[in-house]
Amino acid sequence: MKEKIEELIKTIQSLDANSAEELENIRLKYLSKKGEISMLFNQFREVPNDQKREIGQRLNVLRDIAQARMTELKDKIELSQQESNRLDLTRTAEPIALGTRHPLSLVREEIIDIFSRIGFTVAEGPEIEDDWHVFGALNFPPEHPARDMQDTFFIEKNPDILLRTHTSSVQTHVMTTQKPPIRVLCPGRVYRNEAISARAHCFFHQVEGLYIDKNVSFADLKQALLYFAREMFGEDTQIRLRPSYFPFTEPSAEMDISCNICGGKGCAFCKQTGWVEILGCGMVDPNVLEACGIDSKVYSGYAFGMGVERITNLKYQVKDLRLFSENDIRFLDQFK
Ligand code: DAH
Repeated sequence: MKEKIEELIKTIQSLDANSAEELENIRLKYLSKKGEISMLFNQFREVPNDQKREIGQRLNVLRDIAQARMTELKDKIELSQQESNRLDLTRTAEPIALGTRHPLSLVREEIIDIFSRIGFTVAEGPEIEDDWHVFGALNFPPEHPARDMQDTFFIEKNPDILLRTHTSSVQTHVMTTQKPPIRVLCPGRVYRNEAISARAHCFFHQVEGLYIDKNVSFADLKQALLYFAREMFGEDTQIRLRPSYFPFTEPSAEMDISCNICGGKGCAFCKQTGWVEILGCGMVDPNVLEACGIDSKVYSGYAFGMGVERITNLKYQVKDLRLFSENDIRFLDQFK
C-alpha cells in the first residue's frame, strides 16, 4: 500500500488538463467516492496497527496533493479561457479598402460640372427606345443606314423597339415635354452592334448638350464649346470646327482640340496632325424643332454630343476601351 500511495503522489503531480471535461475525468478517477484515493482510504482499515500512523500520514498527504492539483488545474483552465475571450478594444482597426470612382464616372461628372456653371441642368431618358425618339424625330430619313441591323440592337426583332444608339434621343424627350428656353445635358449609355475590340465596344457613353431659346446662334455654340475645352483640357487648348453632317443639325460640325498629349506639335496619338476630334455639334435642324412641337420661326438652338470614353482616353491615355468594362481592380485603383 505504501508503494501504491507514493506512486499515486507522483502520477497526480504530473497530471494535466486543458478543459473542464478533462478536469472532471481526473476528479472522477481519483477523488470521487469510488475514485482511487477513496479506495485507499477504505483499505486503510486493513492496515496493521503498527503501520497505521505512517501510512495514514502519507494518505492524507496524497489527498491534499490531489486536491491542490485540482485547484491548480482549474485555475489554469479558467485563465486560458479568459485570455481567448479577451477583446482588445484599443487595437487599431483593420484598414477598410475603399472603392474608387470609375474613370468614366469621374469624367462624366466633370463634364456635367463644367456645363452646370453656365446654366445647364441634367436630363435623362430611357435606354430602350422606339424608332421615333432615336431616329424619326431627329430627321433621319426612313432608309438611313443607322437603323440597319448592323448598327442598332433591336429588341425581339421588333424594328420599332431598340436600344438607343445615341443620347440625342433624350433631346426628343426634353423637347416634347418642356418649353423653351431649354438648356440640358443628357449623359447616358448607348449601344451599337459592333465587334468588341480595343477601339470599339457594343456599348459606350455619351453626353449630349441641347440649348434652345430665341436668337441662339452658331457663335453661342462655339463660345460654349471653347469654354468647355479650356476647362476640361487646360487654358491653352485651341479648338477647330470642321464642317460635317448629322441629320439633326444644320449646319453641322465636328470639333477638334489641339492635341493635349503633344501640345499640338504632332504625335502618334493625334497621328502627327496636332489635332484630335472630340465631339459633333451643330444648329438644331428646324425639322427637328417642328417634329417636337417647337416653333422653328421663333426658336433656334444648338446641340452637341461627345463620347465619354473618348474624353477619358484623352485625359488619361487609356489605350484599350475594354478596360472600362472589365472591372479590373489594378486598372480602377489608379483613379484614386
Ligand atoms: N448623336 C451623334 C452620335 O452619336 C453625336 C452628335 C453629333 C450629337 C452632333 C449632337 C450633335 O447633338 O449636334 O454620333
